[in-house]
Amino acid sequence: MVRISVLNDTLKSIYNAEKRGKRQVLVRPVSKVVIKFLSVMQKHGYIDEFEIIDDHRAGKIVVHLNGRLNKCGVISPRFDVKLPELENWINNLLPSRQFGFIVLTTSAGIMDHEEARRKHTGGKILGYFY
Ligand SMILES: *[C@@H]1O[C@H](CO)[C@@H](O)[C@H](O)[C@H]1NC(C)=O
Repeated sequence: MVRISVLNDTLKSIYNAEKRGKRQVLVRPVSKVVIKFLSVMQKHGYIDEFEIIDDHRAGKIVVHLNGRLNKCGVISPRFDVKLPELENWINNLLPSRQFGFIVLTTSAGIMDHEEARRKHTGGKILGYFY
């Protein structure tokens, strides 16, 4: 539950900063799930680079924004999604199948829905961004 709220707070801060046209935002604390989620967003160009700062406490991350992100959020509880059900989630969460990603935690790690398809694995839904 703690992890959900950390990811929730992180995505909300990023979303609000992006909406206000900011170029960067500071989020805290650092968690493995947050770092993985940001890596997936970065891989697809929805955020620019991010820097993890060790402040000898819970840590913080500076995320550089690029104006490409329209929306991001967590899904709670983390529904178990089998591969054939993925399509329904894509239809429900994303505005179009042309862009945006669902992020899942799977036995092979945290990844977007396209990678999950390629690896023929379902998982638990963490959130989405587009
Ligand atoms: C995320 O946090 C907000 C409050 O900041 C809350 O209203 C919302 O229900 C939370 N979302 C989830 C999925 O936990």
